[in-house]
Amino acid sequence: MKLTEPFLKLPIEFSAEEVAKVEQLKALYPDPKSAIMPVLWMAQRKWGWLSVDVMRQVAQVMNLPYSHVYGVATFYTMYKRKPTGDWLVSVCTNTMCGVLGGDKAFEALRDYLGVDHDETTSDGKITLEHAECLAACDYAPVMTVNYEFFDQITEDSALTLVKQLQNGERPQPTRGTRLCTLKEMAVQLAGFADDRGDDVIADGPAGEPTLAGNRLAERFGITHATIQIEVEDLRRQGLRGASTDQARSRLTLV
Ligand code: FES
Repeated sequence: MKLTEPFLKLPIEFSAEEVAKVEQLKALYPDPKSAIMPVLWMAQRKWGWLSVDVMRQVAQVMNLPYSHVYGVATFYTMYKRKPTGDWLVSVCTNTMCGVLGGDKAFEALRDYLGVDHDETTSDGKITLEHAECLAACDYAPVMTVNYEFFDQITEDSALTLVKQLQNGERPQPTRGTRLCTLKEMAVQLAGFADDRGDDVIADGPAGEPTLAGNRLAERFGITHATIQIEVEDLRRQGLRGASTDQARSRLTLV
Protein backbone atom coordinates (compact mmCIF):
# COMPACT_ATOMS: atom_id res chain seq x y z
CA MET A 1 0.00 0.00 0.00
CA LYS A 2 1.30 3.45 -0.89
CA LEU A 3 1.43 6.00 1.88
CA THR A 4 0.94 9.63 1.01
CA GLU A 5 2.94 12.49 2.49
CA PRO A 6 0.63 15.53 2.56
CA PHE A 7 3.46 18.08 2.70
CA LEU A 8 5.31 16.82 -0.35
CA LYS A 9 2.27 15.53 -2.24
CA LEU A 10 4.39 12.61 -3.37
CA PRO A 11 3.94 8.92 -2.71
CA ILE A 12 6.09 7.82 0.19
CA GLU A 13 7.52 4.60 -1.07
CA PHE A 14 11.02 3.32 -1.70
CA SER A 15 11.63 2.28 -5.32
CA ALA A 16 12.31 -1.36 -6.17
CA GLU A 17 16.00 -0.49 -6.51
CA GLU A 18 16.05 1.14 -3.10
CA VAL A 19 14.27 -1.82 -1.52
CA ALA A 20 17.03 -4.01 -2.98
CA LYS A 21 19.58 -1.74 -1.28
CA VAL A 22 17.70 -2.07 1.99
CA GLU A 23 17.97 -5.84 1.64
CA GLN A 24 21.72 -5.50 1.00
CA LEU A 25 22.06 -3.47 4.18
CA LYS A 26 20.06 -5.97 6.22
CA ALA A 27 22.33 -8.78 5.02
CA LEU A 28 25.36 -7.00 6.51
CA TYR A 29 24.20 -7.59 10.08
CA PRO A 30 23.64 -10.75 12.15
CA ASP A 31 20.28 -9.25 13.08
CA PRO A 32 18.67 -7.47 10.08
CA LYS A 33 17.00 -4.89 12.29
CA SER A 34 20.47 -3.42 12.95
CA ALA A 35 20.26 -1.89 9.47
CA ILE A 36 17.71 0.59 10.70
CA MET A 37 20.18 3.48 10.99
CA PRO A 38 21.53 3.34 7.43
CA VAL A 39 17.98 2.81 6.16
CA LEU A 40 16.87 5.93 8.00
CA TRP A 41 19.72 7.76 6.25
CA MET A 42 18.48 6.43 2.91
CA ALA A 43 15.05 7.78 3.78
CA GLN A 44 16.41 11.16 4.85
CA ARG A 45 18.34 11.43 1.60
CA LYS A 46 15.28 10.62 -0.48
CA TRP A 47 12.69 12.71 1.34
CA GLY A 48 14.89 15.27 3.10
CA TRP A 49 13.46 14.59 6.54
CA LEU A 50 11.69 11.88 8.49
CA SER A 51 7.98 12.58 8.61
CA VAL A 52 5.57 10.16 10.26
CA ASP A 53 4.77 8.63 6.87
CA VAL A 54 8.45 8.28 5.99
CA MET A 55 9.08 6.49 9.30
CA ARG A 56 6.12 4.24 8.54
CA GLN A 57 7.67 3.38 5.18
CA VAL A 58 10.96 2.56 6.93
CA ALA A 59 9.07 0.37 9.41
CA GLN A 60 7.44 -1.43 6.50
CA VAL A 61 10.64 -2.22 4.58
CA MET A 62 12.45 -3.09 7.80
CA ASN A 63 9.65 -5.29 9.02
CA LEU A 64 9.70 -3.51 12.34
CA PRO A 65 7.03 -1.87 14.47
CA TYR A 66 6.63 1.85 13.84
CA SER A 67 7.38 2.49 17.51
CA HIS A 68 10.85 0.98 17.06
CA VAL A 69 11.64 3.22 14.09
CA TYR A 70 10.24 6.23 15.90
CA GLY A 71 12.38 5.45 18.95
CA VAL A 72 15.60 5.41 16.89
CA ALA A 73 14.72 8.42 14.73
CA THR A 74 13.88 10.56 17.73
CA PHE A 75 16.96 9.56 19.73
CA TYR A 76 19.58 10.98 17.35
CA THR A 77 19.55 14.69 16.53
CA MET A 78 21.09 14.13 13.09
CA TYR A 79 17.83 12.53 11.98
CA LYS A 80 15.58 15.44 11.09
CA ARG A 81 11.88 15.30 11.84
CA LYS A 82 10.91 18.49 10.14
CA PRO A 83 11.99 20.05 6.84
CA THR A 84 15.62 21.10 7.08
CA GLY A 85 17.61 23.29 4.71
CA ASP A 86 20.29 22.13 2.29
CA TRP A 87 22.72 23.80 4.67
CA LEU A 88 22.49 23.15 8.39
CA VAL A 89 24.41 25.98 10.03
CA SER A 90 25.29 25.08 13.61
CA VAL A 91 26.96 27.69 15.80
CA CYS A 92 28.54 26.46 19.00
CA THR A 93 27.26 28.60 21.84
CA ASN A 94 28.55 26.42 24.63
CA THR A 95 30.74 28.04 27.28
CA MET A 96 34.12 28.23 25.53
CA CYS A 97 32.81 29.23 22.12
CA GLY A 98 30.06 31.40 23.57
CA VAL A 99 32.38 33.69 25.49
CA LEU A 100 34.92 33.86 22.66
CA GLY A 101 32.37 35.10 20.13
CA GLY A 102 30.00 32.23 19.33
CA ASP A 103 27.04 34.00 20.95
CA LYS A 104 27.66 37.13 18.90
CA ALA A 105 28.10 35.15 15.69
CA PHE A 106 24.80 33.34 16.31
CA GLU A 107 23.01 36.64 16.94
CA ALA A 108 24.48 38.15 13.77
CA LEU A 109 23.28 35.18 11.71
CA ARG A 110 19.88 35.18 13.39
CA ASP A 111 19.39 38.87 12.58
CA TYR A 112 20.66 38.54 9.02
CA LEU A 113 18.70 35.38 8.13
CA GLY A 114 15.57 36.32 10.06
CA VAL A 115 15.33 32.88 11.64
CA ASP A 116 16.04 31.69 15.16
CA HIS A 117 17.25 28.39 16.60
CA ASP A 118 16.03 25.35 14.66
CA GLU A 119 14.28 27.43 12.05
CA THR A 120 14.70 27.39 8.29
CA THR A 121 14.76 30.32 5.88
CA SER A 122 11.65 30.74 3.75
CA ASP A 123 13.50 29.58 0.60
CA GLY A 124 14.24 26.29 2.39
CA LYS A 125 18.00 26.66 1.94
CA ILE A 126 19.45 27.36 5.39
CA THR A 127 18.59 26.02 8.83
CA LEU A 128 20.18 27.80 11.76
CA GLU A 129 20.77 26.19 15.13
CA HIS A 130 22.59 26.62 18.40
CA ALA A 131 24.95 23.70 18.96
CA GLU A 132 26.23 22.28 22.19
CA CYS A 133 30.00 21.72 22.48
CA LEU A 134 31.19 20.44 19.10
CA ALA A 135 34.32 18.93 20.64
CA ALA A 136 36.55 21.50 18.99
CA CYS A 137 37.07 23.91 21.90
CA ASP A 138 40.73 24.30 20.91
CA TYR A 139 39.51 26.08 17.75
CA ALA A 140 36.82 28.15 19.51
CA PRO A 141 34.62 29.74 18.49
CA VAL A 142 33.55 27.21 15.89
CA MET A 143 30.58 26.64 13.66
CA THR A 144 29.77 23.81 11.33
CA VAL A 145 27.92 23.63 8.05
CA ASN A 146 26.49 20.16 7.54
CA TYR A 147 28.87 19.00 10.27
CA GLU A 148 32.06 20.33 8.56
CA PHE A 149 34.10 22.71 10.69
CA PHE A 150 34.77 26.41 10.29
CA ASP A 151 37.19 27.37 13.03
CA GLN A 152 37.82 30.56 14.98
CA ILE A 153 34.89 32.37 13.45
CA THR A 154 33.90 35.99 13.92
CA GLU A 155 30.58 37.69 13.29
CA ASP A 156 31.92 38.86 9.93
CA SER A 157 33.33 35.53 8.83
CA ALA A 158 30.09 33.76 9.82
CA LEU A 159 28.05 36.23 7.79
CA THR A 160 30.38 35.97 4.79
CA LEU A 161 30.13 32.20 4.91
CA VAL A 162 26.34 32.20 4.94
CA LYS A 163 26.20 34.72 2.09
CA GLN A 164 28.47 32.45 0.04
CA LEU A 165 26.06 29.57 0.65
CA GLN A 166 23.15 31.75 -0.44
CA ASN A 167 25.06 32.61 -3.64
CA GLY A 168 25.40 28.93 -4.48
CA GLU A 169 29.07 28.71 -3.50
CA ARG A 170 30.56 25.93 -1.41
CA PRO A 171 33.23 27.50 0.82
CA GLN A 172 36.03 25.21 1.89
CA PRO A 173 35.84 24.18 5.57
CA THR A 174 38.86 24.97 7.73
CA ARG A 175 39.45 21.27 8.26
CA GLY A 176 37.95 18.19 6.73
CA THR A 177 36.47 17.55 3.38
CA ARG A 178 34.61 19.86 1.03
CA LEU A 179 31.02 20.79 1.70
CA CYS A 180 28.10 18.75 0.49
CA THR A 181 24.38 19.20 1.02
CA LEU A 182 22.60 17.39 3.81
CA LYS A 183 21.10 14.96 1.30
CA GLU A 184 24.46 14.25 -0.37
CA MET A 185 26.00 13.58 3.03
CA ALA A 186 23.39 10.92 3.75
CA VAL A 187 24.87 8.65 1.06
CA GLN A 188 28.06 8.16 3.02
CA LEU A 189 26.25 7.90 6.32
CA ALA A 190 24.04 5.18 4.90
CA GLY A 191 27.22 3.23 4.21
CA PHE A 192 27.28 3.45 0.40
CA ALA A 193 30.24 4.57 -1.70
CA ASP A 194 30.03 8.27 -2.46
CA ASP A 195 30.12 8.95 -6.19
CA ARG A 196 31.70 12.38 -5.74
CA GLY A 197 35.29 11.06 -5.82
CA ASP A 198 38.11 10.62 -3.35
CA ASP A 199 38.15 14.16 -2.01
CA VAL A 200 35.11 13.50 0.12
CA ILE A 201 37.38 11.77 2.61
CA ALA A 202 39.16 13.96 5.12
CA ASP A 203 42.51 13.15 6.63
CA GLY A 204 45.55 14.97 7.95
CA PRO A 205 47.69 15.75 10.98
CA ALA A 206 46.46 17.40 14.18
CA GLY A 207 46.24 21.18 13.95
CA GLU A 208 48.38 23.68 15.86
CA PRO A 209 45.74 24.57 18.52
CA THR A 210 45.37 20.88 19.36
CA LEU A 211 49.13 20.37 19.54
CA ALA A 212 49.45 23.44 21.77
CA GLY A 213 47.17 21.70 24.29
CA ASN A 214 49.33 18.63 24.08
CA ARG A 215 52.48 20.66 24.76
CA LEU A 216 50.85 22.28 27.81
CA ALA A 217 49.93 18.85 29.14
CA GLU A 218 53.54 17.77 28.74
CA ARG A 219 54.87 20.91 30.42
CA PHE A 220 52.66 20.38 33.47
CA GLY A 221 53.46 16.68 33.66
CA ILE A 222 49.96 15.50 32.77
CA THR A 223 50.59 12.03 31.44
CA HIS A 224 48.98 8.67 31.18
CA ALA A 225 50.38 7.71 34.55
CA THR A 226 49.24 10.84 36.40
CA ILE A 227 45.75 10.45 35.00
CA GLN A 228 45.69 6.85 36.18
CA ILE A 229 46.69 7.94 39.68
CA GLU A 230 43.90 10.53 39.69
CA VAL A 231 41.37 7.96 38.57
CA GLU A 232 42.54 5.53 41.23
CA ASP A 233 42.16 8.35 43.73
CA LEU A 234 38.58 8.93 42.64
CA ARG A 235 37.85 5.24 42.96
CA ARG A 236 39.32 5.12 46.43
CA GLN A 237 37.04 7.99 47.34
CA GLY A 238 34.12 5.84 46.35
CA LEU A 239 33.12 7.95 43.37
CA ARG A 240 31.03 6.12 40.86
CA GLY A 241 31.65 6.07 37.13
CA ALA A 242 33.60 4.25 34.49
CA SER A 243 36.16 1.60 35.41
CA THR A 244 39.79 2.69 35.60
CA ASP A 245 40.57 1.24 32.19
CA GLN A 246 37.58 2.85 30.51
CA ALA A 247 38.24 6.21 32.11
CA ARG A 248 41.94 6.09 31.30
CA SER A 249 41.39 5.20 27.68
CA ARG A 250 38.85 7.98 27.31
CA LEU A 251 41.13 10.54 28.91
CA THR A 252 44.06 9.40 26.80
CA LEU A 253 42.08 9.89 23.62
CA VAL A 254 41.23 13.50 24.44
S1 FES B 1 32.57 24.87 23.52
FE1 FES B 1 32.45 25.07 21.34
S2 FES B 1 33.51 23.34 20.64
FE2 FES B 1 33.55 23.09 22.79
